[in-house]
Amino acid sequence: MESIYGDNLPKMQATMEEVMNCISEVRQKLTAEYGMDPVEHCLCRIKSEESMREKCRRQGIPENTESALSVIHDAVGIRVVCAFISDVYRVRDFLKSLPQLSLVEEKDYIRKAKPNGYRSLHMIFRHENGLYVEIQLRTISQDTWAALEHNLKYKKSIGGNTELIVKELKRCADELASTDMSMQTLRDTISGLN
Ligand code: GTP
Ligand code: MG
Repeated sequence: MESIYGDNLPKMQATMEEVMNCISEVRQKLTAEYGMDPVEHCLCRIKSEESMREKCRRQGIPENTESALSVIHDAVGIRVVCAFISDVYRVRDFLKSLPQLSLVEEKDYIRKAKPNGYRSLHMIFRHENGLYVEIQLRTISQDTWAALEHNLKYKKSIGGNTELIVKELKRCADELASTDMSMQTLRDTISGLN
């Protein structure tokens, strides 16, 4: 079967690498400026053929290249994980300043968490070449929580304890958020001393 991305995979790959290189550059720039790398780690992926087709079916749209690249906006995805909240917003501001990317959508689940406790800053950009790139920015704590929550979502064995688990997960998310804030205050205090 032909790829749902048609012959666009090399262009998608190149766009992903271009944005990853921009992120590497800002890491170097901010490390020089603040003496600390704003990014803990950064991952990228092209959504697999199978997940993209599944998402099209779920959304009730045709399984074709138009849907995969123009209706759905996360075929190219980048996740930037930062140590501190302030770094998340610094990287965001940098991304917004890139001339080849225009911001299509920004969802700040850090300022306003999802009801389950999920926190992250989601941005969708449109590259001047027409491709969309989804960038998720979050702290290390938020990333750890999302990984655990994602894992549990796919565990069928939770059974009757679901309600308690959801409640406890939410509590963990809120505790992590509170720790992130304390760590930010500590960092600000330490930078103020220099
Ligand atoms: P999608 O159809 O997945 O794009 O959802 P959406 O358009 O409503 O976007 P949203 O910004 O809510 O979520 C996009 C992506 O964020 C998801 O594909 C996940 O990677 C991540 N995400 C969103 N909510 C959660 C959550 O509750 N838990 C975890 N672990 N990840 C989440
Ligand atoms: Mg989305």
